[in-house]
Parts: sequence; structure tokens; C-alpha cells
Amino acid sequence: MKPTSALGAIGVSSLLLSGVGAIELDVNSPDSIKKAAKALSTNLRNQYTGDRPGDVPGNLPDPYYWWECGAMFNAFIDYWYYTGDNQYNSITTQALEHQIGDNNAFMPPNQTKSLGNDDQGFWGMAAMSAAENKLPDLKDGPSWLSLAQAVFQTQYKRWDDMTCGGGLRWQIFQFNPGYNYKNTISNGCFFNIAARLYKYLGNDTYFEWAEKTWEWELSVGLISPDLNFFDGADDLQNCTSIDRIQWTYNAGVHMSGAAAMWNVTQNELWRDRLQGLIDGISVFFKDGVMIEVACENNNKCDIDQRSFKAYLARWLGYTAIVAPWTRDQIDPLLKASAKAAAAQCNGGKDQVSCGLRWVDNGKNDGSFGVGEQMAALEIVQALLYPTVDGPVTAERGGISKSDPDAGNNAPADPTTVNSITTSDRVGASILTIIVLVGTIVGAWWMVS
Ligand SMILES: *[C@@H]1O[C@H](CO)[C@@H](O)[C@H](O)[C@H]1NC(C)=O
Ligand SMILES: *[C@@H]1O[C@H](CO)[C@@H](O)[C@H](O)[C@H]1NC(C)=O
Ligand SMILES: *[C@@H]1O[C@H](CO)[C@@H](O)[C@H](O)[C@H]1NC(C)=O
Ligand SMILES: *[C@@H]1O[C@H](CO)[C@@H](O)[C@H](O)[C@H]1NC(C)=O
Repeated sequence: MKPTSALGAIGVSSLLLSGVGAIELDVNSPDSIKKAAKALSTNLRNQYTGDRPGDVPGNLPDPYYWWECGAMFNAFIDYWYYTGDNQYNSITTQALEHQIGDNNAFMPPNQTKSLGNDDQGFWGMAAMSAAENKLPDLKDGPSWLSLAQAVFQTQYKRWDDMTCGGGLRWQIFQFNPGYNYKNTISNGCFFNIAARLYKYLGNDTYFEWAEKTWEWELSVGLISPDLNFFDGADDLQNCTSIDRIQWTYNAGVHMSGAAAMWNVTQNELWRDRLQGLIDGISVFFKDGVMIEVACENNNKCDIDQRSFKAYLARWLGYTAIVAPWTRDQIDPLLKASAKAAAAQCNGGKDQVSCGLRWVDNGKNDGSFGVGEQMAALEIVQALLYPTVDGPVTAERGGISKSDPDAGNNAPADPTTVNSITTSDRVGASILTIIVLVGTIVGAWWMVS
């Protein structure tokens, strides 16, 4: 459309900003939420190419790393669960199956050169969601539940008491940069999977590892006494100095694990932990609207970080389901954030692409991609939490088969496998954080 006058030109540009498109959303109407979620999911799905002939199922095109694909399929599993729309189930099943790896533990050889415990963990959590939401198991292949068990089984063996009194390292293989970093997301994914396996199966081994992981993180200070979650610590310094940067997904991954632990135990300890954690996430909300406070204000969110709000959103929904007493606190955060997120999904060629920032009153910031789109989808679909039954367990409706020995045949971590070459993509997994920490240490909220 051509502007008809000078004034018209101003009119058009402000229209583009404030949204001719935009996703309509009434946060109190399940129908409206489903419609919005569908529109958001379409844009996300269109960014995935792995199901095209000649492409690799489960991979996103550059610049997205492998872990984020696992995270995205988790979003599609939740989308189906919340809305009943199964249009992505076949690409999801195909992707998960293709990325299982030789030993059924989400360690495909193509990823070895940069495989972190957190990367493997995100695929493991997707399998866990598939089991909890009753996505039909593969016809020939390991069950979803056993895939999550395999991730657990390979990871607890990597627990490392040699430094810092315990914990998982970020990287799995010694030859990868980041091997000396014990980070909160790796331990958080492990905690999350252990807690949810405990809820699903009631096996005390999972309970013990979840408990142990939480307590270790608390002991070294990755979790602060007032339930903030810091990024990680260098094990070459025995974890004595902590990178105190805070990300939404670290709080979220622990929140849902703590909610699962409370759901089964119903004890005061886990109730207090979960309550403290929910109180602690206020750092990530501005007038009730979620913000990735570490990088949005200074415009420094990298590709990975642009997806992090998706996970806090996802796990707020999960928490509200399995620990219903949290709803009074969670519900307003979901509603305000979803409203704000949808209001700015008015950019791009299609006029319904979502940007990164939700806190600018419907103004789209022009940052488009898988992370931005997934975050908006997750916060919107999480509004449907009161309409679903919640995750099944072995005793209450579960259909995915348990295999406590899954993952036991995975090779002892082959630290000598394909030695890395300098031309390889380095640090390809989650986080350019180590660099980022250097650039933004000093923000008021991190040093407090
Ligand atoms: C590994 O990479 C090759 C070559 O691109 C591809 O054909 C194969 O499907 C990939 N395997 C996985 C599990 O991604
Ligand atoms: C390293 O940290 C752990 C846990 O905080 C502690 O138990 C251990 O004594 C420390 N080791 C050294 C060599 O300081
Ligand atoms: C535990 O979670 C299930 C859903 O998985 C839910 O139906 C149940 O009410 C929760 N238990 C409690 C005590 O809230
Ligand atoms: C509980 O889980 C552990 C760890 O996977 C396994 O070794 C054990 O056999 C399981 N116990 C039962 C009763 O399934």
C-alpha cells in the first residue's frame, strides 16, 4: 500500500509497529487461546525444514543448534496436548526417532563434537513430555519413557565428585570447550528428568538423585539461599566463584522438577522450595510480563537465549497443573505475559511474526526466529493448563513402557571419540554464556 500523503507515511509506519496483523487473544477463552496457539505454531513449524527430502529429521537450519530442536519438539508435544490439534505429531515422532542415536540415549554421533549434558537433557525432557502426555510410542523402537530413563542413566554416571563436591559438567567430552564448567542448566535438566521419572514411576533411585542434585547446587551456591539460580561455576577453581547471571530457563527447569517432587511427596520441604522459587522469579517480570532481563534490555540475547522464556513459560504451566496451590500466583503472570506476547506478534512479512520483547506494549522489536516464536507459543498455550488432566504416571493412565536399564549399553563416555578439530563449530551447544558473562557482569541485579 502506498501512502497517500506525507501524513500517511507516518500512519503506515506506526501501523506496522502497532499491528495490523497481530494475534488476537482473549486469555479467558479456551477457543480464542487455541486459535492463537494455532496461528503461532504455524509460523514456528514453517521454520522447520528437517522433514524435507534430503534434509535431516530433527535438525533446524542454521543458526539453530541441535538442543533447540529438541526443545521445539517438546513445544509441539505440549501444543498437541493442550489443544488436541495433532498436525505436528508425525514430524515430532519422526524427529525424535531420527535423533535417538546408536545407544538409545539421544547421543547421536553427529552431535558428539559439541554434546553437552544440557543438550542431551532437552531431548530427554521432550521424550519425558511425550510419555507424560501419552504421545503414542514408536512402533519399532524404544518407548518415550525409556528414552528419558536412558538420559538419566547415562547422566548419573557422569556425576563428578572429583571437583566441587559433585555435580555434572556442562560438556560430556573432555575435548570440548566447556568441560570445566559445572553449570546450572545441565544439573537442572538432570534434576528435572529425575524428578519427573520419580513422579511417573515412584522409583526411589530417581528421588534420591533429584534430591542430591538440588542439595549439591545449593551447597556450591548455584542455587542461592533465597532461591535464585545462577549460571554456573568453573571447576578449575573448585566452584568457588559463581557466574551470577540469571536466566529464565534455569528457574523454570528447577520449578517444574520441584513441583513434581512436591506432587509425589506432598511434604513441607518441597513445598517451601517451590514457593521460594516462585517468589524468586519476580526478577524476570516487569509489570507481570516476562522478560529475559539479562539480555533484552541491552539487546544482547543470542540465538539460544531468545528461546529461554519459552521454557519458563512451559514449566509455569506444568507447575500450575501438578501443584495446584501455585495457581493464584502463576495465573496472573501467565495471563499478563501471554497478552503482551500476543500483542506484539504483528511483525514480519506475514504480519503475525513474534519479536523477542513482550514488555513494549505491543511494539514488535523486529527480532524474528524459532526462539521468539516458540516463547510466544508456549506462554499462550500454557494458559490452557486448567483444561487438561495433567501428566500421567505408570499407575494413573501411563502407556509408555519402563526400562530401568535403558542407556546402560551406551559406551562409557568415549572421551577419545573423534578428537575435535579447530575448524569444527566450537561450543555449539547451549550458551555463549562464558563470553556473555564477561560482557554483562555488573548489571545491578546480578551483583546484588
Ligand atoms: C548425521 O549426518 C548425516 C549427514 O548429514 C545425515 O545423513 C544423518 O541423517 C545424520 N544423523 C542424525 C542422527 O542426525
Ligand atoms: C572443593 O569443594 C568441595 C565442596 O564445596 C569441598 O568439599 C572440597 O573440600 C573442596 N576441595 C578443595 C581442594 O578445596
Ligand atoms: C499431582 O499431579 C496430578 C497430575 O499429574 C494431579 O492430577 C494431582 O492432583 C496432583 N496432586 C496433588 C496433590 O495436587
Ligand atoms: C529403579 O531405578 C534404578 C535406576 O534406573 C534401577 O536400577 C532399579 O532397578 C529400579 N528399581 C525398580 C524396582 O524398578
